[in-house]
Amino acid sequence: MFITLEGVDGAGKSSHLDWLKNWFELRGHRVRMTREPGGTPMGEKLRELVLHDSMHPDTEALIMFAARREHIEQVIRPALAAGEVVISDRFTDASFAYQCGGRGLSESRLAVLESWVHADLHPDATLLFDLPTEIAAQRLASAREPDRFEREKTDFHARVRAAYLRRAEQFPQRIRVIDGSRDIESVRLQLTSVLESLT
Ligand code: TYD
Repeated sequence: MFITLEGVDGAGKSSHLDWLKNWFELRGHRVRMTREPGGTPMGEKLRELVLHDSMHPDTEALIMFAARREHIEQVIRPALAAGEVVISDRFTDASFAYQCGGRGLSESRLAVLESWVHADLHPDATLLFDLPTEIAAQRLASAREPDRFEREKTDFHARVRAAYLRRAEQFPQRIRVIDGSRDIESVRLQLTSVLESLT
């Protein structure tokens, strides 16, 4: 099973990574945790570039997909073939949300990259951590040094959020929206009910 986690910066998905891994391991699954951009040695180098150097929005999208190409080849496909549950902290929905919603790239151009890089591979389920962007911004303000995306203004994050929610409407079977504005316990109850419906 291939599961992806998504949401605006500050939506809180990182607080649940270990818990999600445990949830599957307790049920006898081997779990491969990974992330994008990144997930491979080359992908991590590309992550450094794309999170910190300024560049044209097309370049940004192309780097996301270049890193993704390696990630799929070296990590995701082999792990799925070995019967592992793969949990990726972000995947292609993030490109639609950030590069199209946030930066304004056309969805049809991005769809070309998607079908080039992974026409035949899609997440089985996507957990979308959603919350008002003002709350996300408050949470980020107390966090570490912001990267290029986290430094963007509120309207950028509002567009990213809206793009994620549009994707959730487009793919209601796959994308499950989690109310990330609630406390950790309530988020875990929501996650449990989604995970139980998947397994
Ligand atoms: P993030 O998961 O927020 O990392 P961290 O929790 O360590 O800050 O991901 C880094 C950023 O990359 C995030 O702001 C969203 C951005 N991103 C894109 O813009 N497009 C993509 O395709 C992906 C995978 C991520």
